[in-house]
Amino acid sequence: MTDIVSATPSTTTTTTTTTSNGDHNTNNNNSINNSLSADVVAQLGDILDTLHLKTVEDKDCSIRYSVYKGESQIKEIMDLIECELSEPYSIFTYRFFLGMWPQLCFLAHDVTDENNKRLVGIVISKSAKHGKLLRGYIGMIVVDKTYRRLGIGSKLVRYTVEKMTQMLCDEIVLETLMTNHQAIALYEGLGFIRLKRLFGYYTMGEDAIRLLLPLNQKFIDT
Ligand SMILES: CC(C)(COP(=O)(O)OP(=O)(O)OC[C@H]1O[C@@H](n2cnc3c(N)ncnc32)[C@H](O)[C@@H]1OP(=O)(O)O)[C@@H](O)C(=O)NCCC(=O)NCCS
Repeated sequence: MTDIVSATPSTTTTTTTTTSNGDHNTNNNNSINNSLSADVVAQLGDILDTLHLKTVEDKDCSIRYSVYKGESQIKEIMDLIECELSEPYSIFTYRFFLGMWPQLCFLAHDVTDENNKRLVGIVISKSAKHGKLLRGYIGMIVVDKTYRRLGIGSKLVRYTVEKMTQMLCDEIVLETLMTNHQAIALYEGLGFIRLKRLFGYYTMGEDAIRLLLPLNQKFIDT
């Protein structure tokens, strides 16, 4: 899948809290609440009634979106992610995600850049059974600092949601730092809800928030 949309690179540098996530992270995963409250269930019901994704508007210059093609792209992917995320990932983690679920990795390249080679955004995900449900899981998402607030991150997530829907996932889950307000705003803007807080989830001991997007009724039924 490849398409061209438009986005204008920003000339300003944004200072952001960098983070990472992944359920391969096995730090203290102490949730405050393992069962769903009535409020959360009611919220999920509302979402299911009105579930639709915000349309990403194209901007002024060209970004090419594509699906991961193979091992030759791993270096540029790692370079972008390692610049932006604080959590260290080994080559094995990348190969696990990209080798098993290449169709769930979407890349954004600036086609106005020399040789169309500049990777400016990436999302990496997986899917797996979780109890009776098929759970999509967004493992990493990064947009180059100079290309933020152009809709690229949202578009990468929308491609992921669409693909996971085609794959018949029942829900999509991810974790991010409790303090990563820009990521939380992005996901909430696409319909994700806050599910639980995970104390000391990350390597450095920071708390995470788990976000969820139900794709059908099954989540409530289970
Ligand atoms: C989080 C991240 C991927 C967002 O990418 P992006 O391309 O800038 O996101 P978008 O342009 O699609 O923004 C979508 C929405 O997210 C929210 N958002 C994004 N950046 C924001 C910021 N700096 N401040 C407040 N809200 C922000 C806004 O609601 C925005 O919608 P709007 O522009 O219409 O107001 C990017 O900031 C990033 O790479 N951060 C570092 C890595 C990281 O934290 N990854 C997330 C780990 S889960």
